[in-house]
Amino acid sequence: MHRFAYKNGELWCEQVRVSEIARKIGTPLYLYSYNTILDHYRQVQKAFAPVRALICFAVKANSNLAVCRALVKAGAGFDVVSGGELRKVLQAGANPKKIVYASVGKTPSEIEAAIRSGILLFNVESSQELERIEQICRRLRRRQQVSLRLNPEVDPHTHSFITTGHKASKFGMDLKTVLALLRSHRHYPHLIISGLHIHIGSQILEPGPFRAAIRKALAVVEKGKRWGIRIQTLNIGGGLGIIYHRETPQTAAEYARAVLPLLQRSRLKVILEPGRYIVGNGGILLTRVLYLKQSHSRQFAIVDAGMNDLIRPSLYGAYHQIQPVMVNGKGTGRRARYEIVGPICESGDFLAKNRLLPTIKGGDLLAVMGAGAYGFVMASNYNTRPRPAEVMVRDNRWHVVRDRETVRDLFHGERIPGFLR
Ligand code: LLP
Repeated sequence: MHRFAYKNGELWCEQVRVSEIARKIGTPLYLYSYNTILDHYRQVQKAFAPVRALICFAVKANSNLAVCRALVKAGAGFDVVSGGELRKVLQAGANPKKIVYASVGKTPSEIEAAIRSGILLFNVESSQELERIEQICRRLRRRQQVSLRLNPEVDPHTHSFITTGHKASKFGMDLKTVLALLRSHRHYPHLIISGLHIHIGSQILEPGPFRAAIRKALAVVEKGKRWGIRIQTLNIGGGLGIIYHRETPQTAAEYARAVLPLLQRSRLKVILEPGRYIVGNGGILLTRVLYLKQSHSRQFAIVDAGMNDLIRPSLYGAYHQIQPVMVNGKGTGRRARYEIVGPICESGDFLAKNRLLPTIKGGDLLAVMGAGAYGFVMASNYNTRPRPAEVMVRDNRWHVVRDRETVRDLFHGERIPGFLR
């Protein structure tokens, strides 16, 4: 459930008219509903309350400071994948003891910063990385808890670009490596190998693959026990899917019902890393129609947001619902098929293809739904386009939580060398 709904023929976010914000701030614009995000966070927290799971929001889905701050205040932890994300969540007031750090390519300086800030766990993705964290801890005279990321070889039946738990994936370590590292834990005196981590992919709609992966991880925990190694934490990753189109994804409660029996029996401390489920339907991208044109029997609506603002349709062929902000009558008017395309000089620059919509005119505002996750964070400056502003609505108030970039911002750090002057 999200809080973008029509009232009197126009789209509202909570108790604010979407058109009012677009008029004042301009487009393209990302708009987030605070209460939707909080609702979703609480759904996950409540579903996993029986094991008192630590919910670490996957910051990569949406790293806006206000979004992070809202989740800090709700008690969330964070899953970060770079020194930048770590800095950002600390700035938002996150408790370091609720931060886990994954990534196949942590640099020495990122590792050091994370150790110094006292994070809960590294999710370690290779034996060389484990060795490196050990060396850095030795130099800093610190001890650090780590989880080993197991690649459980489970197919989550999702888009190939967002599948991570199969054999050919760069993520995690195979069973043999994880077992070998557990056995050699004495080689790492500065590390406490206290956890296992799995994450099999994203936008997963059913519980089967999660159960299969958790079973595999639990078998490793059992093996460890026999060797006298006490694994205390199981991080079951993120990956819960949401509705973009006609999907019927499991809810957090259904997911919990399917996996809790396994988790409760294990008595492990449980960590989750949901990103999309918390913020995906809590945000939209607002864009204005610049031009309409007919070409070879296709009707193009050229809008002011492009693949640089929202890359998911171009990159994954992802479906995002497009809704007019103003609807005349009860949506019974004429409809037509449109290609909703952006201004970028690439044929792959589209937001929707062959989409049946109420007839559009120049100047109309359109809402691209489900853009709260992997939207702004994947935006770029391609074609030297400033990235959109971000706004958060809470009840009947709204706040700009990131200014629109200016073209001047885009020159920052560039220079013309002397020989060209
Ligand atoms: N944990 C790990 C280790 C991850 O790699 C990810 C996502 C998550 C948690 C959060 O997954 P979520 O709950 O959001 O599914 N840009 C793509 C999605 C990439 C996901 C990358 N990893 C998209 O727009 O669909």
